[in-house]
Amino acid sequence: MQLDSQTLPLLREALEKLEEAFRGLPTVTHPDESSRLRAVLTTVAERLQDNYPYFHPLYAGQMLKPPHAIARLAYMLSLWINPNNHALDGGRASSAMEKEAVAEIAAMFGWSTHLGHLTGGGTMANLEGLWAAGRLTAGAMVVASDQAHYTHQRVSAVLQLPFIEVQSDEKARMDVQDLNRILERGNVGTVVVTLGTTGTGSVDPLPEILELQKRYGFRIHADAAYGGYFALADNLQAHTSVHSKRCRASTPSPSIRTSMDSNRMVAGASCSGILPSARCTATIPLTPTSRQRSSISGRSALSALAPVRRP
Ligand SMILES: Cc1ncc(COP(=O)(O)O)c(C=O)c1O
Repeated sequence: MQLDSQTLPLLREALEKLEEAFRGLPTVTHPDESSRLRAVLTTVAERLQDNYPYFHPLYAGQMLKPPHAIARLAYMLSLWINPNNHALDGGRASSAMEKEAVAEIAAMFGWSTHLGHLTGGGTMANLEGLWAAGRLTAGAMVVASDQAHYTHQRVSAVLQLPFIEVQSDEKARMDVQDLNRILERGNVGTVVVTLGTTGTGSVDPLPEILELQKRYGFRIHADAAYGGYFALADNLQAHTSVHSKRCRASTPSPSIRTSMDSNRMVAGASCSGILPSARCTATIPLTPTSRQRSSISGRSALSALAPVRRP
C-alpha cells in the first residue's frame, strides 16, 4: 500500500478512550449524513489523484511529505474536539500540551529559559519575529540574503519595514562582505540569518555575522524553519555544526524568538516562541509546510522520481 492507512483503527481506539471522559454529557443525535459525506469525500479523493506523488519516500525534489503517522492520527483526534488554546478555559488540556511541546522544542536547542506558542508555520513565525524586530528597531532596515525564504521580504512589506537583499556567495550562503558594505551605510535594524535555506539547505555564516553584530549592534533573526532539524543530527560537517553550537551559545542573552511548525507533534499545529534575549530572534518550524515553492529555482532538478500523471 502506497498510502499509510492501516493505522486508522488506532484512531478509533483513541476516540473511544477520549469519549470515556464525556459519557456523562446529555445525548445529542446527529442526522445521518453518511451518503452526502461519502459523495463529497469520494469526489475529493478522485480529484486528489491528480496531485504529484510528492509524498512518496523516493520523491526527493519536494520537501513536502505527509506528517509522521502519530502526528496525523493525533491531529485527527484533536479535531474531534477542536480545542481553542487562546485562553486556558478554551482548552485546558491542549494548552498544557502546547506548553510541553514548546518546552521540548526549546530543549532540542538547549534552551531552558523560553516563552513560546504554536503557530501555523514558518511564515507566521517569521511575521512574528520581524514584527518584534520592527517594534524594537523602528524605522530600521531588515536585511536577508537573496537565498532567504521569500516571506522575509513580503512580511517586511506587510509590516512596512524597509528591506534590503544581501548577495549570496557561490555556496548560496550570505556574502559577509556584501553584508558589511550594507552595514557600513547604516540603519540596519535586523539581519535575517538563514540556518538552512529552502532551496539548497545552505547555512549562513552565523559566527562571522555575530562578529559583525558586535561592531554594528543589529538584531539577528535566525530562520531555522528548515534547518532546525540540524540540531537533531549528529553527523553534520564541522562548518555546519559550528553554527548550531554558536546559535545555542548566543541564546542566553536577551531575546530569541523561535517558531516551530509542529506537524510532527501531538497537536499537529505550529509553534513560535520567544526566548528572553535582546538581540536575537529565531524561526524554527519543525516541519516545513509551505505550499509555495516557486521562488526556489533548481528544485525540480533534484527529483529522484519523475511525477506520475494519470491518463
Ligand atoms: C527557511 C524557511 N523559512 C520559512 C519558511 C516558511 O514556512 P511555512 O511554509 O511553514 O510557512 C520555509 C518553508 O519552507 C523555509 O524553508
